[in-house]
Amino acid sequence: MDLESIKTIQGELSEIIGVSGYEKPVVDYIIPHIEGYVDKFWIDRLGSLLVVKNGNSTSDTPEKIMLDAHIDEIGFMVSHIEKKGFLRFVPIGGWDTRTLLGQAVKVLGDNSRSHDGIIGSKPPHLTTEAERKKPLEIKDMYIDLGMNETELQEAGISIGSTGTLYDPFVDLGNGMIRGKAFDDRTGVNILIHIIREFSQISHENTLVFSFSTQEEVGGRGAATATAQLNPTMAIALENTTAGDVPGIPDAECPAYIGKGPAITVADRSMLAHPMINRRLIENARMEGIPFQIKKPIFGGTNAGRIHQIGEGVPASVVSVPCRYIHSPTSLLALSDIHHSIRMISVFIRNPAGIK
Ligand code: CO
Repeated sequence: MDLESIKTIQGELSEIIGVSGYEKPVVDYIIPHIEGYVDKFWIDRLGSLLVVKNGNSTSDTPEKIMLDAHIDEIGFMVSHIEKKGFLRFVPIGGWDTRTLLGQAVKVLGDNSRSHDGIIGSKPPHLTTEAERKKPLEIKDMYIDLGMNETELQEAGISIGSTGTLYDPFVDLGNGMIRGKAFDDRTGVNILIHIIREFSQISHENTLVFSFSTQEEVGGRGAATATAQLNPTMAIALENTTAGDVPGIPDAECPAYIGKGPAITVADRSMLAHPMINRRLIENARMEGIPFQIKKPIFGGTNAGRIHQIGEGVPASVVSVPCRYIHSPTSLLALSDIHHSIRMISVFIRNPAGIK
């Protein structure tokens, strides 16, 4: 595994548009990257890509380790078309509304063809001072694709069409990268690298992977995935907020860029299983993998759904810290992805004893 391959796959995944409920382009990217490295894969009825890689355990009941990453990203849906072709929209997932105005967007039309536009609102020199002081809401904004109603129709853009903010992937050259949808294409990247690595290395336990749909609207794909995969333990691979920016006191900073993967102890959706965390931490210390404990109790992840399915699934979360999550573009350190892959790889070879 090398940083070059981590960077290439991260860049390609980042630029794919796959808003919650419309993730097929992401699945189409992943399949050729894992085909031939696994025993079985299928797409479930909610669109998640599920993968099985058998181990060589002689036990009748080997551990079944589930590794999850969500493939959707936040975006928007067209809710109304104004005369002259301006698109009103509603968010899918939680945007930081303050960051939307003036941003470049892509809206999908027929055959998943994307169309470029911009988020606009009433121009500043036509607003009153009182209006300018009021925070803008999404209902005050629109998307301008530079198209009239007929052109929209021809492109197949209508109420219900989806899209998202678009910023191309950038390698900042010092081990830092910038791009859209790092939440959670980063987790997808980690799983692809783990799948490839363990096609070469024998492992005892069964590995099951879920590339889950619809996380950003409440972990929906992860719930159906878990029901099918029936794991004995699970780790969600995520992106988490790096709060190491001006204006945030240390006590309120969930995680820091460049200090290694962040292990969740508790967030708003789950109390992580202590045995999994203990093993993650012991392994990391043994192998000299840098890590941090994510400060509770921010955010929620697919693990919040996964651990409540069936008889219950002991679960935790390993996250790559990322600045400016849920805004048009975000920033992270390649080394944090690299160390997350190492952390999961060691865990697979030496998982927690839960039974
Ligand atoms: Co996420």
